[in-house]
Amino acid sequence: MVKAVVLGASGGIGQPLSLLCKISTLIDELSLFDVVNTPGVAADLSHISSKAKIDGYVAEKGDFKGEKEGTEQAKKAALTGADVVIIPAGVPRKPGMTRDDLFNINAGIVRDLVVACSKYCPNASILVISNPVNSTVPIAAEVLKKAGVFNPKKLFGVTTLDVVRAETFVQDISGERNTDKVVIPVVGGHSGATIVPLFSQAKPSINIPADKLDALVNRVQFGGDEVVKAKDGAGSATLSMAYAGFRFAESIIKAMKGEKGIVEPTFVYLPGVAGGEEIAKATGVDFFSVPVELGPEGVEKAINILPSANDYEKKLIDEAIKGLKTNITSGVEFVTKA
Ligand code: APR
Repeated sequence: MVKAVVLGASGGIGQPLSLLCKISTLIDELSLFDVVNTPGVAADLSHISSKAKIDGYVAEKGDFKGEKEGTEQAKKAALTGADVVIIPAGVPRKPGMTRDDLFNINAGIVRDLVVACSKYCPNASILVISNPVNSTVPIAAEVLKKAGVFNPKKLFGVTTLDVVRAETFVQDISGERNTDKVVIPVVGGHSGATIVPLFSQAKPSINIPADKLDALVNRVQFGGDEVVKAKDGAGSATLSMAYAGFRFAESIIKAMKGEKGIVEPTFVYLPGVAGGEEIAKATGVDFFSVPVELGPEGVEKAINILPSANDYEKKLIDEAIKGLKTNITSGVEFVTKA
């Protein structure tokens, strides 16, 4: 029996993600939580005759700060017994909002939701989608540490959309269309220049024309902006993010069920996972996205592919580390200096 929970299930990412979870053959029970509209989303999805039993839990009316008892009870009911919790809750950036405003709001949302996870499903795998992932994952780690239930093998920042973009954009150059055919590791973080696709490590190996490489790397790093621009003020990537989040969640669940050899890049707390310490030493950062081998209990080991990167990619990694240090510190301090 696998129970999955989506926190922020009524949003642009949350709804398609919940739909994908509803039709997954790997999920038996699906709980949705949001501050608005979850009973409606759950009722709608419940008319699909797929395997997962679905329930929607909503915060007490008007309780956007999550301070009321009804909200706490809804979180408790949604999270109790969860194996996998996926968190796309948050606010997208609105006109007039600075990046700091966005950070402060989403940081608080993620903190409060992870506090609830620490109480009601301390053994669940937690998959953080809410941005900025480079900071919200360190926030989640600090919250879990404070609660005494931090298991680094089960805390993941979802960076799969960067992998999906790398795999897709490379095919835009080659003109082929088969996403299952090429595996491209993406390392670092989950925004802009902290995202480093390692095309030299693609499997099977690929040949990218030298005059196209800079533009390709840039497109992976800033692919989100293409969507923001095309949506013309209506938001950021939601459907492709839902697909990526679901793809990652299914990998976690497959490994949980005993499937061997599943490897996915994801943003993890390096000192807490096998093989991570040497990567933390080499990079000077504690959180980093690297390919990890997944098992029934989460991360089995982090795979250090950084030494295999070519010189061009090593420079990108150095740049990524600079940005990441600041992002990680903001996340940690949001909890420790509160
Ligand atoms: N608890 C649960 N859900 C919440 C909370 C909270 N405290 N606060 C907000 N939400 C919900 C909103 O009600 C909304 O349904 O989170 C959902 C967010 O959905 P959207 O506003 O449509 O945003 P979306 O585009 O889905 O992005 C969500 O993911 O990629 C990131 O940057 C993106 O941080 C943003 C997040």
